[in-house]
Amino acid sequence: MNENAIKFRLMKADDFDAVVGIDSKVLKASRPEYYEMKFEKLFKSNDYVPTSIVAENEEGAVAGFVMGELYLGEYGIFQEEATLDTIGVDPDYQNKGIGAKLISEFVEHLKTLGVRKIYTLVDWNDSALIHFFSENQFSPSKTINLERSL
Ligand SMILES: CC(C)(COP(=O)(O)OP(=O)(O)OC[C@H]1O[C@@H](n2cnc3c(N)ncnc32)[C@H](O)[C@@H]1OP(=O)(O)O)[C@@H](O)C(=O)NCCC(=O)NCCS
Repeated sequence: MNENAIKFRLMKADDFDAVVGIDSKVLKASRPEYYEMKFEKLFKSNDYVPTSIVAENEEGAVAGFVMGELYLGEYGIFQEEATLDTIGVDPDYQNKGIGAKLISEFVEHLKTLGVRKIYTLVDWNDSALIHFFSENQFSPSKTINLERSL
């Protein structure tokens, strides 16, 4: 594969099947309902600014994606904080720098919109994903999530 042939663009509603397909490949479990909810929110409401990015291979097929949210806010004012909710690279395309490029494209796009901080949540036990985020300049936040089982 020619890594330079990978192109990055904003995600569209039509990318739904490709995103669900990659997610089920990386997680080995399908969760279309989660993405139906996310796509509904991001592409059908006017409350969120487009921020999610996909990586396309030479043939225009989606090889990876990063999804995030930037809430437009009251009076259409962009917020200074955004979230990175999900990232996934097709296993056939991993370890080629696509994940890192997805993050940098996402970050550069958010910077142009005035965002100053990106939050994401990672499973404490997923050391590979924590390592990936650490390599891409994410560090532990000063706030921690608390929970109580009921
Ligand atoms: C985490 C994930 C997005 C990384 O994607 P990726 O495209 O493989 O990421 P990169 O290629 O940028 O980096 C991965 C490794 O490849 C290495 N690499 C980058 N370019 C390379 C190249 N040309 N040749 C060899 N290795 C390379 C990187 O240095 C990195 O190595 P490291 O782990 O030792 O730091 C991918 O593994 C994934 O989809 N995992 C599942 C994520 C998940 O669980 N998502 C759901 C919850 S958010």
